[in-house]
Amino acid sequence: MKKSIIINQKIENFQKKFISVDGDKSLSIRFVLLASLSNGKSIAQNLLKSEDVLSAIRCIKKLGIKIKLNKNKCEVHGMGLDGLSFKKNLTLNAGNSGTTARLICSMLAKSKKLIKITGDKSLMKRDMGRIIKPLKLFGFKFSTKNEKLPIFVRGSQSLKPIKYNENLGSAQCKSAIMIAGLMTDGKTKLRCLPSRNHTELIFKNVLKIPIKIKSKRDYDLIELEGSKQFKSFNYRIPGDISSASFFIVLTLLLKNSSLIIKNVNINNSRIGIIKILNLMGAKIKFINRKIYKGEINADILIKSQNNLKSVNISSKINSSAIDEFLLIFLVASKCKGVSIFHNLSELNKKESKRLDWGIKIIKMMGIKVQKIKNDGVKIWGNPKLELNKSFQVKNYLKDHRIFMTTTIAALALGGKWKIFDPDSFNTSFPSFLRILRKLGAKIL
Ligand code: S3P
Repeated sequence: MKKSIIINQKIENFQKKFISVDGDKSLSIRFVLLASLSNGKSIAQNLLKSEDVLSAIRCIKKLGIKIKLNKNKCEVHGMGLDGLSFKKNLTLNAGNSGTTARLICSMLAKSKKLIKITGDKSLMKRDMGRIIKPLKLFGFKFSTKNEKLPIFVRGSQSLKPIKYNENLGSAQCKSAIMIAGLMTDGKTKLRCLPSRNHTELIFKNVLKIPIKIKSKRDYDLIELEGSKQFKSFNYRIPGDISSASFFIVLTLLLKNSSLIIKNVNINNSRIGIIKILNLMGAKIKFINRKIYKGEINADILIKSQNNLKSVNISSKINSSAIDEFLLIFLVASKCKGVSIFHNLSELNKKESKRLDWGIKIIKMMGIKVQKIKNDGVKIWGNPKLELNKSFQVKNYLKDHRIFMTTTIAALALGGKWKIFDPDSFNTSFPSFLRILRKLGAKIL
């Protein structure tokens, strides 16, 4: 793999193009993990074959599960809730995947042995305390240094269900508690701030776990009955809205361009970026909506829009756009007026310090930007923004979303860009550069 890519020219406008993006990362990882706890052979179609999903597969294989992965499908031979096998001195390496590291811990509920969980340089900086705290209440044992990887985990034969208040709005934290609840006798009760709800939808619609979900105005209540074995299942993974967002923003920022992105998951807990862009004046439409296993999938129609206006976004929307803020900052840079975003501290806990990086990138592009109280951000947009300087992007902990966002900035706004660590996009979206080239991008 090359050390860097170079982009010296904007992409030409394109009209009425159709593309598909790779499968949804959250659903792909959940499929791999939950299928391994089911009884029998589960099959996924269009599973995302990115580094994060491959990390989940590697971990599950080490727990004794047979998985066959080929071009069109992924077959997982689940062994039931008691079927994982725990060898002595086992190490599970989650690579760059926070979802894998956090969810796999709760799957170790039945392990009598101490298991080491580790990850790459970026993952080793991330907080595991958010799952250690609730899992300890179930009866899990942990040995850690500052609640960062590597950590050592052991289950217990006498886990007790818990009542927990999840107040970060983290789907990874919520899902880790739900999986631990699934492995434990009795009723686990959760009150959580809203976050992506794929785990709930799979438990209810696919696995048929006894679960009650009540959505209140500002939080969700979840009650689930554990230790219920479930059957294997099939899943056709839709396109990932987070991956689609790079192409949505590219099309939006160009002139006279339009694009249709086929069959993307538009679950309401994931489409914060669409709501924010439409408030800015984009006219993004969902067509051919279908319900699939409780999720909503649709084609996304997007046209360029050159009169974008600034927004002041309530932090209530943050969790549904949590992976898209770098792109949102980029669009805010082209809006007329001053945009304000609130309470973005969670962004600095991602694969890199994304809040700081987002600010750094648009500052580098000549945009006035300021951090405000409680990790909010104020961006003074410039509708005439065109870039012609040289830019370098490096040492960003290989954060895939930084690589892809700066690539979109280069193709939509111009300038001469050298972007290092191009293999980083394989973490979540291996087809990224291939689709861009198909649309006409010149990337050296
Ligand atoms: C994910 C949840 C989000 C998101 C991550 C994937 C998931 O993290 O940033 O990329 O699949 O549950 P948090 O919900 O923990 O913020």
